[in-house]
Amino acid sequence: MGGLFLPAVRGLRGTLRVPGDKSVSHRAVLLGAVNDGPVTVSGFLRSADTLATVAAVRALGVEVEECTDRLLLHGRGWEGLREPEDVIDVGNSGTLIRMLPGLIAAAPFLCVLTGDASIRRRPMARVLEPLAAMGASVAGRQGNSLPPIAIRGGVLRGMSHRLAVASAQVKSCILLAGMRAAGPTAVIEPGASRDHTERMICYAGGRVERDDHPDGSGVVRVWPVAGLSMDALAIPGDFSSASFFLVAALLIPGSEVCVANAGLNPTRTGLLTVLERMGADIQVEPSDMMGPEPIGRVTARACSLTATDVSPSEVPNLIDELPLFLLAAAKARGTSRVRGATELRAKESDRLRAMTALLRALGVQVTEYPDGMDVVGDPDGWRGGAVVAQADHRMAMVGAIAGAASGEGVRVDDLSCVAVSYPGFTEALAELGGSWRAEGFSESGSR
Ligand code: S3P
Repeated sequence: MGGLFLPAVRGLRGTLRVPGDKSVSHRAVLLGAVNDGPVTVSGFLRSADTLATVAAVRALGVEVEECTDRLLLHGRGWEGLREPEDVIDVGNSGTLIRMLPGLIAAAPFLCVLTGDASIRRRPMARVLEPLAAMGASVAGRQGNSLPPIAIRGGVLRGMSHRLAVASAQVKSCILLAGMRAAGPTAVIEPGASRDHTERMICYAGGRVERDDHPDGSGVVRVWPVAGLSMDALAIPGDFSSASFFLVAALLIPGSEVCVANAGLNPTRTGLLTVLERMGADIQVEPSDMMGPEPIGRVTARACSLTATDVSPSEVPNLIDELPLFLLAAAKARGTSRVRGATELRAKESDRLRAMTALLRALGVQVTEYPDGMDVVGDPDGWRGGAVVAQADHRMAMVGAIAGAASGEGVRVDDLSCVAVSYPGFTEALAELGGSWRAEGFSESGSR
């Protein structure tokens, strides 16, 4: 799939099940690899990123049987991993290249990790420095700050780490290493980032505790654990994937979209709080727990929106949905503002710069700041334009939703990168009544 034209849609309608959560899928494979014995994982997201994690644990000697969205991981315990014969390629996955070093920080062998051009620009000192302080040997390009990186496991000591930015990837890396350290390990984070790792460690019999402070910061402590034991793990639908169609439903007149299996972990659903403040017609029906994670149905209906401000303390809980929020803000009455979001510049692309370019291409008035953006909304929306996704999956999907919600359609240079997190995205759009056509090809999709 190359460039696509996404025409305006008259209304998106229907009920959707979104693929498994990407963050939880990565963690299921990483923790499953060191589980004491086999683990069955259901609802696994089969995407480029998470399959890179499967390939990585195979390279570490773990047998993984795959059957559609079910995996059988033959966990080998902490001592069972072996030295990979070659460099591990994480592809586009920032979560894998940040978390895997923590998992192997006490393993007595060398592991070298690299990835695609976007990965090789992503900051790594934030995980290598804490691991080195705990006792692992680490190396990386440009003074241990960029991939490729190398880790040789060592004897780890538990200690306290203060994070400069709220990052679940960094916190998770340290917590994984902490399970193999002597004594407890603490991570002090300035805001509460997603807590899937903490939940899964407890689910597997490990010990993690959190103390929240009134200013939004928190301390997460992990204790050493001799072995992890889970036999089955079910993964909820990915709230981030669901968000594309929920926001599309709000923006496109005549729409009503229900996501039947959305993960509702409160450290992920900050977008709902922000959209509700904008007057969004969204209904959330929590159902049960799915393994360690809450899940439920979310329904969104077309409505008019009012501008709002996203404060720095809200950013961690909607970090991946901020581009979608900015798109929604472009159709809201008034000026919306985001601050404290510098971290968006260190994602698969510089997403603040990319959103400035995307919104300007649609004719939306924006002001970009080092840590955020002001968006002047217009309830009449935008006519159309051309979007360059720079191989960033979330930017490509925001471009597609911008097309569906436009007056005259939007061209997106390349949607093949959606395979990183949401293979089947264009098919889901077509199922709800959207359509798309390949530029210069006969390939097309519609209901
Ligand atoms: C992720 C954490 C987030 C997020 C990324 C996935 C994770 O990054 O942007 O898509 O699975 O832990 P940070 O929390 O490190 O910002």
